[in-house]
Amino acid sequence: MKIEFRQEPIAQLTSSALVAYAFEGSPASSGSVERLPAESLGFLRELQSAGELSGKAYECTLIHRPPGLVAAKLLIVGAGKKEKFDSAQQRRLAGTAVRYLRSRGVRDLAWVVLGPECESGCIRTVVEEALIADYDTDRYKTERDLQRGIDRLDLALSHPPSEGDETARERAWIVGEAQNFTRHLVNEPPNQMTPILLAQQAQEMAKRFGLECQVLGPEEIRALKMAAFWAVAQGSEEPPRLIVVRYVPPGAPEAPTIGLVGKGITFDTGGISIKSSENMHEQKTDMAGGATVLGVMEAIAQLKPQLRVITIVPATENMPSGKAFKPGDVITSMSGKTIEILNTDAEGRLVLADALTYAKQLGCTVLIDVATLTGAIRTALGEITTGVFGWNKEWVDRVLSAAATAGEKMWPLPVDEDYRDLYRSSIADLANIGGRSGGAITAAMFVGEFAGDTPWVHLDIAGTRWSNEEKPYLAKGPTGIGLRTLVELLMNIST
Ligand code: BES
Ligand code: MN
Ligand code: ZN
Repeated sequence: MKIEFRQEPIAQLTSSALVAYAFEGSPASSGSVERLPAESLGFLRELQSAGELSGKAYECTLIHRPPGLVAAKLLIVGAGKKEKFDSAQQRRLAGTAVRYLRSRGVRDLAWVVLGPECESGCIRTVVEEALIADYDTDRYKTERDLQRGIDRLDLALSHPPSEGDETARERAWIVGEAQNFTRHLVNEPPNQMTPILLAQQAQEMAKRFGLECQVLGPEEIRALKMAAFWAVAQGSEEPPRLIVVRYVPPGAPEAPTIGLVGKGITFDTGGISIKSSENMHEQKTDMAGGATVLGVMEAIAQLKPQLRVITIVPATENMPSGKAFKPGDVITSMSGKTIEILNTDAEGRLVLADALTYAKQLGCTVLIDVATLTGAIRTALGEITTGVFGWNKEWVDRVLSAAATAGEKMWPLPVDEDYRDLYRSSIADLANIGGRSGGAITAAMFVGEFAGDTPWVHLDIAGTRWSNEEKPYLAKGPTGIGLRTLVELLMNIST
């Protein structure tokens, strides 16, 4: 998608479709419609009195050959109540416009930017969300319409673009594309996104954007004594991969070195503690954390913060087989801590345990893991909000504030010594499950045991990695959650 600024009068824009938003109550006179010429506004008033234009959120009214405009079409998107309007809503309106128009074969549109009061922040949200909305999940449909999609988005400004506007546009484009890369990885079926294929995708991405990428196989994983990772991997015919991507800009300080660890289970059957077949296909998304951190690397390779970042993705399937690990097994993790396996379906925390230990060994001084870790988080927070955990209040707060800026909903959940008893083992240092209650917390804390004293934040995205409902502004499917927050965080640290 090409994105450009336009400064000519609205009436003279030649895009196939102009898009403006309108508030509930007075849709013909409030919102970015204010910038339309008088003739168009007169027409909108008629539609309003006829009850065809309400301004209710996401209502789309398409006007052909709009009076007073050169553009062939005018789309008015309802913005809801004016008092509730914020940048998150603006995001959704841009997404709604893109999805509405592309489904009608429109390939180029101009978004009417309200005015100087709506500055770089709004350019960022509109551009990011336009790219995200232009993504579809139907790659494997043989009859899909290859022509569909937006080629060009013009941003119709009322003022000459500032340097900040230009930067906002470029950065938003990078972030939107990176988020779609993450979504693509998550959307792929598990036979097309095995550990080997995920590692290939990481390598290709790294090559394209000039990053260092190292991929380790079974022998190397065993040589590193990653027995917890290996325990999960040993049951599968598909060999595991440990993916390491480094971003080390010359001159960047050694501390902080941020370690991003993403769960990379390319398919989670549960192993010997097998899941029920109902909805098991959902478990192709169990590498969403890994996909997120790889997308973050794609973005920062281009945004170039002065900050060291190392991404680690332990990638494997979790399968039942004659070689699979079993409930009752005791393993010695890379850290030296012993773990009694009580449920082979609690595999995410095992691969993360060794990956965090490795991240520390590689010199990371701050650890952030992203994982589809527990069904319990979905019970607690639904598909809307991502759970955030960590002992280090400063870093948890940094992540939460980055999330708020980036427009991703996140909420803190507690970690507390008193929960530790729940995952104690009678024969080893730790047990890999913590009983029925507080499942998201005990899982997070188990992972945190391997971060030790290093500041650590954990994002449980099992609820938010996938949207089961089609939204006016977003396709049903992978969300790419966490990417914008982490990119925002990394950019904040470096400045
Ligand atoms: N991959 C699952 C979590 C998950 C659930 C991801 C739903 C996406 C959608 C994870 O490995 C898992 O199986 N967790 C178990 C832990 C339990 C055995 C302690 C769970 O949540 O049931
Ligand atoms: Mn599992
Ligand atoms: Zn899993």
